[in-house]
Amino acid sequence: MSTTTAPPSPLDPAAIRTAVDQLLYGFLDEQERATPELPELNLFTGNLRDMLRAGGKRIRPILCLTGWHAITDRTPPPGVWRVAASLELFHAFALIHDDIMDNSDTRRGRPTAHRALATHHQARPDADSVGVNAAILLGDLALGWSYELLHAPDVTPAELAAVWPLLNALRTETLVGQYLDLTATGDPTADTDTAWRIIRYKTAKYTIERPLHLGATLAGATAAQLRCLTAYALPLGEAFQLRDDLLGVWGDPEQTGKSTLDDLREGKHTVLVATALEQATVPQQRSLRHRFGHPRLNEADAEQLRTVLTDSGAQAATEQLIIDKRDQALEALAATHLQPTGPFWLRQFAHTVTTRAV
Ligand code: IPE
Ligand code: IPE
Ligand code: MG
Ligand code: MG
Repeated sequence: MSTTTAPPSPLDPAAIRTAVDQLLYGFLDEQERATPELPELNLFTGNLRDMLRAGGKRIRPILCLTGWHAITDRTPPPGVWRVAASLELFHAFALIHDDIMDNSDTRRGRPTAHRALATHHQARPDADSVGVNAAILLGDLALGWSYELLHAPDVTPAELAAVWPLLNALRTETLVGQYLDLTATGDPTADTDTAWRIIRYKTAKYTIERPLHLGATLAGATAAQLRCLTAYALPLGEAFQLRDDLLGVWGDPEQTGKSTLDDLREGKHTVLVATALEQATVPQQRSLRHRFGHPRLNEADAEQLRTVLTDSGAQAATEQLIIDKRDQALEALAATHLQPTGPFWLRQFAHTVTTRAV
């Protein structure tokens, strides 16, 4: 962690979280008030509130505000806050559908949306499939609401026009990234190029690059400033997902709120696993291929796989890649013409998200 003194800054992650959450809770309340004839909606709004209350780091809204402050020392107008909140609703959509696609039961230390909705319908014989289908609808609502949130009097037409192409790009990138992830799942190979492409599109763009671009664009960033933010964001976003992949195998579920079996059971094509297949001895490869992606994989199988991932050198190689990518991100900041507040917080952030346990 850098020990440099923080410049005077309005960037306060806890305050951003509080403000964004207030906006989101207010929006969900409004949705309920607007449709009193649809009390069923409360199940959906309640589920989204539970998800927000359960945790989450609010990285995307925080980066949207960071993008703004990297360009200007003006106070962000209400439109910036709305865009920040919209990113969190988009993220909720992405997570809800991701947990269906990844067969995940736990998120933020509580049942995933489709599991919670299955429990809600537990009296039915088809509760599991009703849960999944209801969660698809919940995700659809969150996606649609992430745009509806922006059609408010405090977002000016000029602001809306500025962010629209970026939001469209973010959505396309993330969904194609998720498609790449799902089609590579269950087919482990030593192809690291595909694994890098997956993490760039499914995570790096919508988590780091686009949130920074959105805040920066609203602040009037130049093309050169946006390029500089990209040069920081893409390697850091990749490092962020590499850390997620390591936590998905060795993390503490009490802290991450997620299982350490899901990725191994699903057979996720990650840089970690591709590296293991590239570097493993023949017996290690055999052990990996025998267990990885097995639908009934248990904790004992997972332990065997962890041993192969460590002994093949893949875990250490991934840790090194995280450091390399983080350093690449930090180097990009050296060449910037950003406001001093921006690089300071972007440096802190790079250290925090690459060393995180949550
Ligand atoms: C999880 O994102 C999904 C990925 C893109 C890796 P976060 O790690 O930001 O999830 P929360 O919001 O903090 O729960
Ligand atoms: C999630 O990727 C990416 C999106 C939600 C778009 P992962 O599937 O790797 O993330 P976790 O580990 O479930 O949070
Ligand atoms: Mg997942
Ligand atoms: Mg996934």
